[in-house]
Amino acid sequence: MRIVLLGAPGSGKGTQAARLKEALGVPHVSTGEMLRQAVAAGTPLGRQVKDVMARGELVSDALMLDLLEERLSRPDVSNGFILDGYPRNLVQCQALAALLERLGQPLDAAVLLEVPVAMLIERLAGRAAQEGRSDDSPEAVKQRLRVYESQTAPVVEYFAAQSRLRRVDGVGTVEEVSERLLAALR
Ligand code: AP5
Ligand code: MG
Repeated sequence: MRIVLLGAPGSGKGTQAARLKEALGVPHVSTGEMLRQAVAAGTPLGRQVKDVMARGELVSDALMLDLLEERLSRPDVSNGFILDGYPRNLVQCQALAALLERLGQPLDAAVLLEVPVAMLIERLAGRAAQEGRSDDSPEAVKQRLRVYESQTAPVVEYFAAQSRLRRVDGVGTVEEVSERLLAALR
């Protein structure tokens, strides 16, 4: 199964994808995780994106497409994937559509985790205290939410217009949200 998992920062994409991959038996492809690994390893890509990420802004479409193309060309995604963090704007929507067409791997669904903004801020503040992710500072969170509203909300409309979007209430325990996600994918 090939799925795009959508949702604002803190909506639970990573948390749910980690569970969903067990249920569906397909890898979790998180562009944010791939970038954080590059930053931690100090690779040329990591050095290039570190400051942009810490500010809560988007990395360039060209860099992201290179990264995604390489990842989706590996054999472990031949049976599907859960894509988390991509696409994040309409240019990336077109790039993904073209890439999947070329790979002969059409998407099955786009699932949106819906969580009110106040709860997103609360969850990210909780994670800031626990994990210290560089973009969980209050200023970076504000910027990530702004970027989501201006650039990523149109992605939701893009999938809705294709009748591919499934909306899932992301409020509740992790287990409750997982149940709803699986039900939405059945
Ligand atoms: P990315 O890593 O994609 O981050 P994000 O979209 O901002 O989302 P988060 O990872 O913060 O939240 P999440 O939805 O995964 O929630 P989580 O499960 O962690 O992107 C980071 C940066 O990378 C971007 O800003 C950009 O710079 C760059 N980037 C990445 N992709 C890009 C692209 N395609 N183009 C350009 N740039 C790109 O949960 C959050 C917290 O809530 C956790 O503490 C969790 O334990 C808790 N939680 C989860 N579920 C629940 C629940 N049900 N109840 C209570 N708490 C919960
Ligand atoms: Mg995440």
